[in-house]
Amino acid sequence: MSLAGIYVHLPYCASRCGYCAFVVTTDGSSRDRYLEALEREAALLEGEAAETSFDSIYLGGGTPSLLAPEAIARLVAALRSRFRVTGDAEVTLEANPEDVGPPAVAAWRDAGVNRVSVGIQSLADAELSAVGRRHDAARARAALETLSGSGLSISGDLILGLPDQTRESFRVSLAGLGGAGVDHVSIYLLETEKSKTIEEDRRLHPDRYLSDDAQAELWLEMGEWLASGGFGHYEISNWARPGREARHNVKYWLRTPTLGLGVSSHELWGGRRRANVSNLDQYLAALEAGRRPVALDEQVGPAAAAREEIFLGLRLSSGVPLERIAAFVVGSQDVRLWNDYEGWLTEGILERSGDRVRFTERGYLVSNEVLSRFV
Ligand SMILES: C[S@@+](CC[C@H](N)C(=O)[O-])C[C@H]1O[C@@H](n2cnc3c(N)ncnc32)[C@H](O)[C@@H]1O
Ligand code: SF4
Repeated sequence: MSLAGIYVHLPYCASRCGYCAFVVTTDGSSRDRYLEALEREAALLEGEAAETSFDSIYLGGGTPSLLAPEAIARLVAALRSRFRVTGDAEVTLEANPEDVGPPAVAAWRDAGVNRVSVGIQSLADAELSAVGRRHDAARARAALETLSGSGLSISGDLILGLPDQTRESFRVSLAGLGGAGVDHVSIYLLETEKSKTIEEDRRLHPDRYLSDDAQAELWLEMGEWLASGGFGHYEISNWARPGREARHNVKYWLRTPTLGLGVSSHELWGGRRRANVSNLDQYLAALEAGRRPVALDEQVGPAAAAREEIFLGLRLSSGVPLERIAAFVVGSQDVRLWNDYEGWLTEGILERSGDRVRFTERGYLVSNEVLSRFV
């Protein structure tokens, strides 16, 4: 039985990047109140998690690396004192390249962080400045170099589909990241609908963007390149060296219980999906009044759980049990879904692997379409 995980959302950023739709703020004035609120939230959750052991903590954002290392140390210690966190738990910190330097990395390690996920996004200056990143390629490379000698586990994010990105510049970014001693890589397709400005720009200047076909070709090429470099493709957007898969993130796709603390955090707990309010003032006010800041709290019934098991599990290369997906498709009494499912298998979008069904590499390219049929 897998152990549970704890996610903590830290919404503060130095500036907002052009493509980002996460719940973030560039006003740091509430930072101390927020850290206190998180400790209050942990205290309110302590009772219901008393019987649970946790083996992952994920400090995500926003930009957690903007916090002073002492604040990170205090937060990790507070979580460890409220919850039963195993000694060897994976403790991840999301960091932006401009915050990564030898003193910060040493302090994070002392705070109990053992994994850093760094938002490289690209190693081309034109692409970085086009979306308002605060770092340039040289800074990103320096961050990777600092991290590679630190003994921490390192993950790096890239985005495919940025404005002004070319096939060649993407290959350079991928080679730079893959060759920098990282043991985990996340590559996201730019979701342009998350930003009106980028969506509008793509409509007005399509020449600044790689076509869908070019992105698909690059996607398959990069998969082969990463595989030849020893990275296994274990989830749609994630590759890892053996044993370096993100323990925390895998819990989301396997529906393992996780607690979510902080503004806008989501959790699956006791068979319920719960979400905190997305408004920072409301989040602070609720906790300062001694109340949980919950905006949504729903029991996941058996039918919804079966659906979730399929659309989350299919994201993983391990796929889902054949009997579960077949039972779901037949049970849906949706003839179109049944025909489509058969078609996905015969066309090589899905494949059988032993007693499981999973996407093929090519199938991942149309995974949104397939997964949306199970949501
Ligand atoms: C929660 S964000 C925070 C990471 C960190 N603050 C940073 O900027 O590097 C995690 C990752 O989501 C990805 N991301 C954010 N917005 C995206 C979008 N619109 N399309 C694709 N990927 C996105 C980026 O690669 C980013 O590193
Ligand atoms: S991408 Fe990262 S740094 Fe940029 S606004 Fe989003 S969370 Fe903040």
